[in-house]
Amino acid sequence: MQHFLSTVDWTRDQLDSLLNLAADLKKEPIRDDLRGKSIAMLFLNPSLRTRTSFELGMQQLGGIAIVLQPGKDAWGVEFEPGAVMNGEAEEHISEVAGVLSRYCDLIALRAFPLFEDWEVDREDAVIRALARYSTVPVVNMETIVHPCQELALMMTLKEKLGTVQNRKFLLTWTWHPRPLNTAVANSALLIASKFGMDVTLLCPEEAYRLDSQFESAAAQFAEESGGSFRVMHDIDDAYSEVDVVYAKSWGALPYYGRPEEEWALRQKYRNFMVDETKMALTNNALFSHCLPLRRNVKATDGVMNADYCVALDEAENRLHVQKAIMLNLLGH
Ligand code: CP
Repeated sequence: MQHFLSTVDWTRDQLDSLLNLAADLKKEPIRDDLRGKSIAMLFLNPSLRTRTSFELGMQQLGGIAIVLQPGKDAWGVEFEPGAVMNGEAEEHISEVAGVLSRYCDLIALRAFPLFEDWEVDREDAVIRALARYSTVPVVNMETIVHPCQELALMMTLKEKLGTVQNRKFLLTWTWHPRPLNTAVANSALLIASKFGMDVTLLCPEEAYRLDSQFESAAAQFAEESGGSFRVMHDIDDAYSEVDVVYAKSWGALPYYGRPEEEWALRQKYRNFMVDETKMALTNNALFSHCLPLRRNVKATDGVMNADYCVALDEAENRLHVQKAIMLNLLGH
């Protein structure tokens, strides 16, 4: 049984198949293939796009989606193996996964890292525990990676650029008032390198480098796909002649769990906001972001309102790629 936990576990051919199916679904959105099928969606964190697109997508395929928010409208869940459960959680993931597997055909989970200890969070243990105990396929709706967002990004780039091989992809860190999850940044590196793009990671200084497991994977994928991967800290050099600017903010991993200390570092880098002057350095690049985005903090109104901004296309494509993922995992 195959899960959709990370694109690292999926070959380029498999990902291409998902993207081709998503393109078909975009042309013919209403189908009946999943009549009688269901997905349970566990949200430990808020969402607008992920929840809407999965619920709608399952309905458009003839099935139903059930949203559960453990700790709010469902019992709190303990994920730690062997835990003595005398805290807030009322049930263990082993029973949650077992029960939902009896009811539903797919289980999806959003579980952001806890921002206490990166050495713990980098193992992605929560979704791996769900996958261990589930007897139906599990879908990652964002943990320390966001594979659904990756596919939506790549679908959008292929639609706009045609071929993406050796097109220049800039992932830029942006200013934000607090340290955010690295998931989308990790994922952007994985998918762009897997599809043969020339990838630059721009971040203000070494403290904002991404976890070595993702930078190493990007370097390896780039070697296999004929792309490239490099890290830069100079804004003008990094933007020069790129074809795609992809923005995301994230917390400095050496300060993980210590946001007050990180603030002293972060506040120096407000100049990393994406603006029209930086975009003018590019090769008429596309701009995108996973959303939500704080306007005039991460990117200016001018960038967000420009014709080259494809963030809404990427958000729409979440719907199509997730329908493809659900169909694929259920054998279609
Ligand atoms: N990009 C994304 O996952 O959006 P939501 O957090 O609104 O689901």
